[in-house]
Amino acid sequence: LEAKPIKIKEVGPRDGLQNEATFVPTQDKIAWINALSRSGLAYIEVTSFVHPKWIPALADAVEVAAGIERAPGVTYAALVPNEKGLERALAAGVHEVSIFLSASETHNLKNINKTRTETYPILAETAKAALAAGKTVRGYVSTVFGCPYEGVVPVDDVIRVTEALLEMGVAEVSLGDTIGVAHPRQVQEVLEVLLRRFPADRLAMHFHDTRGMAMANVLVSLDMGMTTFDSSLGGLGGCPYAPGASGNIATDDLLYMLHGLGMQTGIDAEKLQAAARFIQEKMGRPLGSHSMQACQS
Ligand code: HMG
Ligand code: MG
Repeated sequence: LEAKPIKIKEVGPRDGLQNEATFVPTQDKIAWINALSRSGLAYIEVTSFVHPKWIPALADAVEVAAGIERAPGVTYAALVPNEKGLERALAAGVHEVSIFLSASETHNLKNINKTRTETYPILAETAKAALAAGKTVRGYVSTVFGCPYEGVVPVDDVIRVTEALLEMGVAEVSLGDTIGVAHPRQVQEVLEVLLRRFPADRLAMHFHDTRGMAMANVLVSLDMGMTTFDSSLGGLGGCPYAPGASGNIATDDLLYMLHGLGMQTGIDAEKLQAAARFIQEKMGRPLGSHSMQACQS
């Protein structure tokens, strides 16, 4: 593998915390994100402006996004499902918003209470308003490699949703293995199809590690030319509307592999570990990542 710059997008404060039973106090979230900012990460998804009834763990989205320090060169992003969420995100001063939907119909219904067809115009309006406000927009496709309700997801459905997001003006589409079912062969096959239509630099990989396949899936993605990966420090996370989903690939473990391969990330592993120890203490339990377990033993 050729050594090259890799973009790591830290989603721990959003994807990591959204499914945790513990409510992390607002000031602790802010202090954690500030510590992440000091580690050299260039992109942090700090929260989510969804309905607080659906995701109580992030009910303090405005306070968090407005309260963090903005380090120069760091993009602070947040998830928004619609224009109501966008309004709150703009008021809190985020740099980028992420819109999201699922490749599979049932997961989309469970996650955002709409069919895919109903979702398109909502996201298109949200993206249009965000772009008009001078923000960049990112798009997520969930259940790319499998759906907890429908099982196999046809790659044509992934293409359709990805195309729709790009037409809305998103800068990048993040391909979500929501329930961590993908394996290296499948990642290779799906990327072979997608990369015939979309350039690698418009796509990102978002692996959950439910079956321990995330690192192998990153390696295959690197081999296929992918350079942007979402991850969550310590492996925090899951998806509340995907039964059995577990955390994202752990940023600390991912960094260990990437640096071992000679890839450049701009991230300082020691400062990142300090941020991991901070949130571990706040969670009151050992974090799941291998790196954190190794440094506890
Ligand atoms: P709904 O109930 O269908 O919404 O929820 P609605 O438009 O019918 O409105 C109902 C009420 O919600 C109204 O209030 C709205 O104002 C309010 P009322 O008039 O009843 O008082 N409302 C809002 N309030 C605050 N913020 C908002 C908002 N929108 C409407 N943005 C909705 C639709 C999308 C809002 C809801 O289903 C929801 O919040 N879902 C969030 C689900 C979620 O966050 N899932 C996890 C994130 S996705 C994920 O983790 C996957 C990913 O990581 C990639 C991967 O791994 O695959 C990204
Ligand atoms: Mg996710």
